[in-house]
Amino acid sequence: MQVLHQLPHMKDRDLLVGVETADDAAVYRISEELALISTLDFFPPIVDDPYTFGQIAAANALSDVYAMGGAPRLAMNIVCFPKELALSVLNEIIKGSMDKLIEAGALLVGGHSIEDREVKYGLSVTGFVHPDRITTNSKARPGDVLVLTKPIGSGVIASALKAGRIDEVDAWDAISSMKALNRAAAEAAGEVGVNACTDVTGFGLLGHAMEVARASGVNLVIRSSGVRFFQAALDMVKKRSNRPRSIASNRAFLMKDTVLSGVNEAVELLLLDPQTSGGLLISVAGERSALLIEKLRARGVEPAIVGHVVPAEEGWRISVT
Ligand code: CO
Ligand code: CO
Ligand code: CO
Repeated sequence: MQVLHQLPHMKDRDLLVGVETADDAAVYRISEELALISTLDFFPPIVDDPYTFGQIAAANALSDVYAMGGAPRLAMNIVCFPKELALSVLNEIIKGSMDKLIEAGALLVGGHSIEDREVKYGLSVTGFVHPDRITTNSKARPGDVLVLTKPIGSGVIASALKAGRIDEVDAWDAISSMKALNRAAAEAAGEVGVNACTDVTGFGLLGHAMEVARASGVNLVIRSSGVRFFQAALDMVKKRSNRPRSIASNRAFLMKDTVLSGVNEAVELLLLDPQTSGGLLISVAGERSALLIEKLRARGVEPAIVGHVVPAEEGWRISVT
């Protein structure tokens, strides 16, 4: 969220990643060999089924550790729950989350719950990474290729689900995608060695691409025909009431630095769509991009080449064609 960017900039020689570069998580060096990654995420339900919601919330919270190149190890529950609701609902949410944590090799070691009018659930996650293998927002270089590891459009689908305009069957590919860990993608990126990485969440593809561009001091060319969209999202976004409100705020925030040419309206809106548990946006040196694609595919991840990095130039940051 925007407010985080107004946090004071704390200085410490072992704080390797703080708030300055709008990265996904903080990274703190423990030794020459080991750094700790710290992050948290929580939100209200985006699907009706509590078990599925727990899975999505966990995959989403774990994702920031993967985006930094790390492996999650410890997790704690963050729970807001109304006293009128059956406790079995909460048990299902936590069961879904637990199953994802087990898949990730992370341990659930505690947490905190409060009474609230609306359900909210998430996790604080601690992970580890070798200090030399951290993937931040700030090292994308001209000549890099931009690779995205999940389709786009989950925000529109979540808002259509909430309004009852789509059922969970038609939304299934988006739901499966939101439940999927970014672990395989992060492992492939780690093996190949990439320059920058972030996960695509609330600011949408363009917003997170903008964070990479600004933090790295480069410009990005996004080729919208390369981006994969959920088919249901391409249909649903045409109806104004299915558009999450943050599409408009993301647009207001981004458009002064973004030039679009020949992009149709549905695609433009979806490039600004806030994602839940979105994929990794990876900036990899051109000559290593084929190897990255191959390693992603070998792990069952379907990558898309969505653009490339060019030297910084005045007047714009991102060009979308
Ligand atoms: Co993130
Ligand atoms: Co980010
Ligand atoms: Co996050």
